[in-house]
Amino acid sequence: MILVTGGAGFIGSNFVLDCIATEKSPIVNLDKLTYAGNAGNLASLKGDARHIFVKGDICDRALLARLLHEHRPSAIVHFAAESHVDRSIHGPADFVQTNVIGTFSVLEEARSYWSSLAQPEKGRFRFLHVSTDEVYGSLGPDEPAFSETTPYAPNSPYAASKAASDHLVRAYHHTYGLPALTTNCSNNYGPLQFPEKLIPLIIINAVQRKSLPVYGDGLNVRDWLYVGDHCAAVRLVLHRGRAGENYNIGGGAEKTNLEVVNAICTILDEIRPNALITHHSSLITHIKDRPGHDRRYAMNAKKMADELGWKPGERFETGLRKTVQWYLDHLDWVENVTSGAYRKWLDINYGHR
Ligand code: NAD
Ligand code: TYD
Repeated sequence: MILVTGGAGFIGSNFVLDCIATEKSPIVNLDKLTYAGNAGNLASLKGDARHIFVKGDICDRALLARLLHEHRPSAIVHFAAESHVDRSIHGPADFVQTNVIGTFSVLEEARSYWSSLAQPEKGRFRFLHVSTDEVYGSLGPDEPAFSETTPYAPNSPYAASKAASDHLVRAYHHTYGLPALTTNCSNNYGPLQFPEKLIPLIIINAVQRKSLPVYGDGLNVRDWLYVGDHCAAVRLVLHRGRAGENYNIGGGAEKTNLEVVNAICTILDEIRPNALITHHSSLITHIKDRPGHDRRYAMNAKKMADELGWKPGERFETGLRKTVQWYLDHLDWVENVTSGAYRKWLDINYGHR
């Protein structure tokens, strides 16, 4: 039994679906169902006794204690977080609450539960904390990619709150011996990503012939990883990673935002031509930059390769094509998640730029 937090979000739901399909391990899934969480992502598990969904907040320590004692998991995989940089700029409080206080709550209850275990369960228990490359700050064009020893230098409220949570996880291992591991991953893309993030936002806007907002000059670089490859890496670290270690996970696919947006447009020109526009790229609009916008992220995933034999299975070009096709095939899902609150967000973030 694994306790997953945030398993109704983008990466968490991909992880839960993958785990149940490939490992058959039962999962208790604790998720608050914020705007980013969608129980519908897990609809295919309805009636499957291996998936127990609990709507609740990771800050609720009594609930966490109850779930741990009732289900006696052998691991916690902690995805739950506020995850969008732009939202952290407009409203950082939720990020401190969930990412810092929430992670602290999960750690405290995990520590108490783990301390109560007898061997061999105690020795086998794992706490896996899912984090991001953004904790390392921004790279210059010729600097080497982030490694596990790169000093932390978070620049956005989101990155700072994730860095704080990473530090707590480290301290719980160092001080109390909690068998914790942290993964720091680059930008993910793929099915079920909430359309506030670059790739789904661009796909959906392009299909609707709306403008494609590119911040600043569009030359910021991200290292893109297909979500299924991230989930496989998390499972490997969970089973074979060394407690107390950090693992950097990356796609080895550095792209400027303009390259990403143009690639989506080219795929759409081919598979969803629009009679009213020759090239979807004609919808690209440069808008005012994000404050404090990190210029470049790149991950050195050598430790994952050397220690655990992991490498991404999906190339960016094929993963992006699959992703575009998934959104075209799931416009009903898009319709479902883009509620009034989503439209309000678009107005807050894009209305005055
Ligand atoms: P997401 O925003 O899509 O999903 C987050 C999930 O957490 C949602 O289901 C939400 O309902 C839930 N949640 C939020 N606050 C909660 C709370 N207080 N209690 C319980 N549940 C709560 O995020 P994602 O993109 O799937 O990211 C998952 C994790 O991976 C995050 O920790 C994020 O920092 C990390 N990460 C994301 C990326 C990326 O590119 N998306 C890259 C590296 C790391
Ligand atoms: P995003 O998907 O928000 O991820 P992150 O900021 O965590 O890397 O953004 C990816 C890149 O795309 C980032 O450099 C900001 C840029 N971006 C745009 O240019 N336009 C947009 O509308 C969005 C949402 C992001």
